[in-house]
Amino acid sequence: MGFSSRKKLTACVLFGLLVVLVGCSPPEPKPRQVVEIPDGTVDPAVWGRAYPEEYELWKKTAEPVGTRRSKYKTGMDSGAIGVDKLSQFPYMALLFNGWGFGVEYNEPRGHAYMIRDQLEIDSSRLKSGGVCLSCKTPYAPILQKDMGTDYYKRPFKEVLEQIPEEFRELGVACIDCHDNKDMSLKISRGFTLVEAMKHIDKDPTQLTRQEMRSMVCAQCHVTYNIPKDAEGKSVGLYFPWQNSKSGKITIEDIIQQIRDDDSVLEWKQGVTGFKMAFIRHPEYEFWTNGSTHFKAGASCADCHMPYTVAGVHKISDHRVMSPVQADMKACRQCHAENAEWLRDRVFTMQDQTISIMIRAGYQTATVAKLFELTHNAQAEGKTIDTALYDKAKEFYEEAFYRSLFMGAENSIGFHNPTEGLRILGDSLAFGTRAEAYLRQALAQAGVEVPLKVDLEIMKYVDERGEKKLRFDPNLEFKDPMGIQDKFF
Ligand code: HEC
Ligand code: HEC
Ligand code: HEC
Ligand code: HEC
Repeated sequence: MGFSSRKKLTACVLFGLLVVLVGCSPPEPKPRQVVEIPDGTVDPAVWGRAYPEEYELWKKTAEPVGTRRSKYKTGMDSGAIGVDKLSQFPYMALLFNGWGFGVEYNEPRGHAYMIRDQLEIDSSRLKSGGVCLSCKTPYAPILQKDMGTDYYKRPFKEVLEQIPEEFRELGVACIDCHDNKDMSLKISRGFTLVEAMKHIDKDPTQLTRQEMRSMVCAQCHVTYNIPKDAEGKSVGLYFPWQNSKSGKITIEDIIQQIRDDDSVLEWKQGVTGFKMAFIRHPEYEFWTNGSTHFKAGASCADCHMPYTVAGVHKISDHRVMSPVQADMKACRQCHAENAEWLRDRVFTMQDQTISIMIRAGYQTATVAKLFELTHNAQAEGKTIDTALYDKAKEFYEEAFYRSLFMGAENSIGFHNPTEGLRILGDSLAFGTRAEAYLRQALAQAGVEVPLKVDLEIMKYVDERGEKKLRFDPNLEFKDPMGIQDKFF
């Protein structure tokens, strides 16, 4: 792999670390005088008076990330809204057509923007109701407790108005991750994460410091299911970890849970008419599922909140962002290689991932269009073999959820490269088989199917109403291996 353990050891020794048991964790900052923050203080400025260095860096998540150094994660040049993901991956416009994500779906940007981005986004994305605030505001646990089911169900803006006006646009705050008494790390979202931990046999009171450095992020950087009532209103929120173990939450487990609970089929796919669930930002699940860095004992904070010097203090960088944008400083806490080499490793893994991700996405889109053709044939009175149809549908869903999972995970494979390729390879395999079943069913029914299926991608891009103006073909990622064009 090119990673020399001799070099790593040198780096560790340089950092004065003797045991390489938990990988090569850099030494933590020296404890400072602890200031107790009054109970229930949400306002980060109050916390900031006690800890000005962290506060200043935290505020910087509102600033542009600067020169674009990432290859696929385009970061954001502040001011304007986030980068249009449907321009980067047009096949998503086809697959998500039918609801909000097919109208507007953006790359993430700094933590300070989380509520502001919700307010700017197309209103079709807020139809789920107050539930959308769960990974967006420090008030989520309070609102959930006070409002009960209404919190999930009531319109987004109505729930937002329950928040004191001056804090309505506040993103992730100190209170989301810290205990006000002693600044230790704390899980504030008991109603989701603590509940979910029960399924994977994790005791929330017994987490190590290093585990906490990832668990605070797992409050939001996870996928979740939103159960609906008969009228289609959101009535809850849970992480689909029912079938999993700690360190092994697989896409297979997640799909199983979706199949076991059809109240979570949140939306209807335009092209196929199928009711579907959705998968969002599964960073924690993907990374903990046996990745090299997870196994080596690293944490999310190691790579996204590296140590930095602020004045006389050595502190954690609270300007949470991509380590590539931050010049690979985080990686170099543990790796002796230079930034250039490390960046090249990230880009190579991302190239390999994105090549197959794009093909899996277009393959899934092809099957969706064949279902459209099949449904049209049925409407014209043609008889389609039920066994072939059912098998094709089952395999299509398998392909779709895997492609969705990898498209929603925010590292383009880096967090767990081999697992990413496994998931995408399976997506392609299921999609290819689903296509074969449908072609056979259509042939039996006497319907002619062209060798190359016309995806009509631009039709779905245009159906975005005024949001189609955000579509920029220059942003589209092409298969870096050049294989895509042979197929689609
Ligand atoms: C309260 C929920 C919440 C918590 C806790 C949280 N995040 Fe986020 N994070 C978000 C949301 C929402 C976004 C997207 C914001 C946007 O696009 O407006 C985001 C964006 C990011 C980004 C992209 C930033 C950029 O500049 O593009 C990174 C990296 C990130 N989070 C890492 C982390 C890490 C690491 C942790 C734990 C130390 C963490 N997050 C904790 C909700 C959270
Ligand atoms: C997304 C989660 C998150 C948020 C939000 C957050 N912190 Fe932290 N903070 C961390 C993590 C992770 C550490 C490292 C703790 C450890 O290693 O035990 C940390 C460490 C600290 C420390 C200990 C010294 C250091 O820098 O390592 C202080 C003090 C601190 N944070 C203050 C703040 C203040 C003030 C705010 C709000 C302005 C804030 N934090 C917001 C996650 C967060
Ligand atoms: C070994 C280092 C490492 C660890 C551990 C790690 N990440 Fe990342 N993360 C990266 C890299 C590298 C990228 C790709 C950034 C790029 O291409 O600019 C990334 C990307 C991201 C992004 C998208 C950033 C953007 O600008 O769009 C988010 C969000 C994120 N990680 C969250 C997490 C969370 C949450 C965890 C823990 C569950 C985690 N990461 C663990 C290295 C790491
Ligand atoms: C907390 C320490 C730590 C941090 C931070 C860290 N790494 Fe690692 N990394 C490790 C360890 C430990 C291994 C396992 C190496 C081994 O066993 O030889 C590893 C392995 C790797 C490998 C080999 C991967 C494989 O699957 O075998 C690459 C490439 C790598 N790291 C890149 C990065 C990059 C890029 C970053 C920053 C985004 C980063 N690392 C951040 C500790 C770290």
